[in-house]
Amino acid sequence: MNLDIDFVRAQFPAFNAAPLTGQAFFENAGGSYTCRPVIDRLFRFYTERKVQPYAPYAASTLGGQEMDEARMRLAALMGVDTDELSFGPSTTQNTYVLAQAFAQWMRPGDAFIVTNQDHEANSGPWRRLAERGFEMREWKINPETGYLDPADLMTLLDDKVRLVAFPHCSNVVGEINDVAAICKIVHDAGAVACVDGVSYAPHGLPDVGQLGADIYLFSAYKTYGPHQGIMVIRRELGMALPNQGHHFNGDILYQRFTPAGPDHAQVAASAGMADYIDALYAHHVDGDAAAASKGAAVHDLMRAYEQELLQPLLDYVSAKNSVRLLGPDRAERRAPTVALALQVSAGEAAAQLAPHGIMAEGGDFYALRPLEAMGVDMTKGVLRLSFVHYTSKGEVDRLIEALDQVL
Ligand SMILES: Cc1ncc(COP(=O)(O)O)c(C=O)c1O
Repeated sequence: MNLDIDFVRAQFPAFNAAPLTGQAFFENAGGSYTCRPVIDRLFRFYTERKVQPYAPYAASTLGGQEMDEARMRLAALMGVDTDELSFGPSTTQNTYVLAQAFAQWMRPGDAFIVTNQDHEANSGPWRRLAERGFEMREWKINPETGYLDPADLMTLLDDKVRLVAFPHCSNVVGEINDVAAICKIVHDAGAVACVDGVSYAPHGLPDVGQLGADIYLFSAYKTYGPHQGIMVIRRELGMALPNQGHHFNGDILYQRFTPAGPDHAQVAASAGMADYIDALYAHHVDGDAAAASKGAAVHDLMRAYEQELLQPLLDYVSAKNSVRLLGPDRAERRAPTVALALQVSAGEAAAQLAPHGIMAEGGDFYALRPLEAMGVDMTKGVLRLSFVHYTSKGEVDRLIEALDQVL
């Protein structure tokens, strides 16, 4: 079963928008295009349901039901209970709130582990726990390859460690970490695992139940949805951590880590992400299935398609002496988020790609720690070329042609 790229692109109005015609988008890791069901739901909410939700008049009831629907369907796709999934303004704000909860929950003498492979969102808020007297330990990447070796994690764990925060996939190294194996190591040591899935989820929503993460975070706006952060917090941990919401909401798991009122319209519109995944499933697979199986099937479709497009790009950049590819050169080991250290400024290289119709960016992508650890010249930064399953083979070919002119 192969992904029908024409069907996929027809679900994204951006591909028919005049200002974007002729532009090949390679900054998807910064934020994806939005799928039509999300745009339609957002429009409907703002035109028909933009009232305080959950009151007994129709517009309000429908608005509240749509918000519940979003949580219920996304949670089912990810193999968790509905109230284990909640929304916040962004992943960075979600980790910030969670870190406040851990600061209250941890006891003097406790330790936590962070990596230097993470985006700052899943690093800085945790590192600040050290200022509250908790011991910080750093799980470090290999400076050449960017690899996070689970064997190194084992040497850091002992019975003081409460939390290990690590990425499913770094937004510059691109390597997919073996989350299930790492969570097992973490649990065997009596700690909990907080996984940043922001760079992974756009390539297929994972079954968090199967991965075993206690916390799994991702950003809807990079996953074809509106500008929201989504967090899965498994029940046992979520009810044990101190409530960060209003005191009277303390028994409601999905409200415990959302101190402010949620963005109703965007939460409701997130149900469109589930519509999109269901539509992909229905188009490619005969018959019905449980939501988590549908999620897994669509995940596998996306991954297989992306890997096929990615390998020629990896082969091309690996063969260039003037370019350093960060992370693995095999598509099956990574996401199609390809960061390149160049001999020139990455920002200037991105600017030179723009006239070729290539939308890309250079910089640090808030991943200063991994880039510095890998010895990247931070005055030049990295050129990041990231794509997803709606990218066509023709666009990747065009990218390679443009790179040939610019690099
Ligand atoms: C891997 C990763 N984690 C976290 C974030 C932060 O997400 P948000 O913008 O939702 O705070 C990003 C954003 O670029 C990211 O790439």
